Amino acid sequence: MSTVRLPGLIDVHVHLREPGATHKEDWDSGTAAALAGGFTLVLAMPNTQPPITDETSLQEALRLASQKARCDYAQYLGAGAENIDHLASLAPRAAGLKMYLDQTYGPLRLDDMRHWMAHFENWPQNQPIVAHAEGRTLAAMILMAELFNRSIHLAHVSKAEEIVLIRKAKEKGVQVTCEVCPHHLFLSQEDALSIGEGRSEVRPRLNSLEDQRSLWENLDVIDCFATDHAPHTLSEKDSNNPPPGFPGLETILPLLFTAVHQGKLSMDDIVLRLYTNPRKIFNLPEQPNTWIEVDLDQEWIIRARELYSRCAWTPFEGRRVKGRVERVVLRGKTAYEEGRVLAWPGYGQSIREIGLS
Ligand code: DOR
Ligand code: ZN
Repeated sequence: MSTVRLPGLIDVHVHLREPGATHKEDWDSGTAAALAGGFTLVLAMPNTQPPITDETSLQEALRLASQKARCDYAQYLGAGAENIDHLASLAPRAAGLKMYLDQTYGPLRLDDMRHWMAHFENWPQNQPIVAHAEGRTLAAMILMAELFNRSIHLAHVSKAEEIVLIRKAKEKGVQVTCEVCPHHLFLSQEDALSIGEGRSEVRPRLNSLEDQRSLWENLDVIDCFATDHAPHTLSEKDSNNPPPGFPGLETILPLLFTAVHQGKLSMDDIVLRLYTNPRKIFNLPEQPNTWIEVDLDQEWIIRARELYSRCAWTPFEGRRVKGRVERVVLRGKTAYEEGRVLAWPGYGQSIREIGLS
């Protein structure tokens, strides 16, 4: 057995569904899934019910998290048309500002570019902005970063035209970073049939094989891997109106390790995109005495019934993978070992609130 030790990994893009949809996931089950997947720190998206868009909702999300999270966390604020003037004072307590500019799940969506600009003006220059922007909307966001001379992080880039545009922008010195999701690296439209029509719904959509190839060819442009863990139950996914989204926290690492065995990337590529760059881009503190242990040679088959996510399914069902998280140590305590989550609800810390209270 070849065990390797990596830093505790960071997922900058997860949906934990609490408050409002705890039948899909909550802070407890979602952070259990994170630990089982090798993550010790997750940044939670704001498209909950209600969405996290003001002082009251942020406080409530952080209260729930402080009682239930098993790993460390921070909570994003959502940009709306109504809250432009009220967010700056909350910025230090948030993971960052999330701007939804394209089709998504939930009510948070900003269409008017004047609203985008107003948020750019008000949100502190040194705090992260993450944009869900596809295709030409992504091009418009890159223009905003240039006009306002500030950094932006582009969520779940999935297409060839997007990744080559980001390369160009970086070459010109625009302060743009990006993430790519495992389902855009390891699945394509070709897999939609076997996954099932409703189950394969995700935003951005599953891409073409050409798009997928171009992500791999432009790996050097990809700053982070992020799961966009977006759990919905099977009955919802199999309904007439299937919500978009895939769970991903517990499957990304074995998929990436398998790609390492196939010579498609290195372990350093993984650590750079799931630890070093997330810390830099989101200004995240070090988690002391924190690491994960991985058995790189273990071969296994992904089965939803063995996962901690409450949604109880995965688009990678039945996939053969090589490499498994064996143990997770978070701030000196064994938080996960041999299939069992050992950190209790409430052990997780709010990384933006350390030293604030
Ligand atoms: O597929 C998606 N699911 N894309 C999004 O933008 C939102 C997410 C969710 O929250 O379910
Ligand atoms: Zn998302």
